[in-house]
Amino acid sequence: MSVLISPSLLAGDFSRMGEEAARIERCGADWLHIDVMDGHFVPNITLGAPVVKCLRKRTDLFFDVHLMISHPLQYAEDFVKAGAQMLTFHVECEDDTAETIEAIRSLGCRVGLSLKPNTPVETILPFLPQVDMVLVMTVEPGFGGQSFMPDMMPKVSAVRKAAPDLLLQVDGGISAKTIAQAAESGANVFVAGSAVFGAADPKAAIEELKTLAQSVIG
Ligand code: DX5
Ligand code: ZN
Repeated sequence: MSVLISPSLLAGDFSRMGEEAARIERCGADWLHIDVMDGHFVPNITLGAPVVKCLRKRTDLFFDVHLMISHPLQYAEDFVKAGAQMLTFHVECEDDTAETIEAIRSLGCRVGLSLKPNTPVETILPFLPQVDMVLVMTVEPGFGGQSFMPDMMPKVSAVRKAAPDLLLQVDGGISAKTIAQAAESGANVFVAGSAVFGAADPKAAIEELKTLAQSVIG
């Protein structure tokens, strides 16, 4: 199973987002994680589809768009048209989960389903056959730079047990100190904001994260 590192643009310089995306591509990132927050689903506001569209012109990285919004159904088409290649939404959002999965898929986009730290893993298990990826949040969504929650690891293991070949992403507090633990539990896609954009040498940071995860996954 391949290891993918998806640096989160949230930890980059928002005044020069295009350059940040291009820079992280040159540093060897596998994907680019783009955090969309609506100020309603989470207490923070970041960016919308017009920004994703502008970023699309600046990099060829795979766009891993994390929708922390109450109504993904309403905005899915805008984000796919803007260049999103994976749209991950939350099982706790206000739209119907099966309907939202179907809508994203019918737009020709890959679908990810995420759950917050207080949401039991059982809520997403019935949808595993319909999604391309599960994102187990390892912090409360809304802000970068928070501490990794090791008590989320049983959820990661449960998803991996139920779906041996699924892309399984973790997001929040992933660093050289925590990535091996997440990989041991079964994750293979790692979002890292501060650990990559905050590093003096982001290329070395990405390489280190990848090596640590690969040493577990093989
Ligand atoms: C948090 C976001 C994360 C965030 C991770 O709500 O979903 O993607 O950028 O940042 P770090 O890696 O700094 O915890
Ligand atoms: Zn995220």
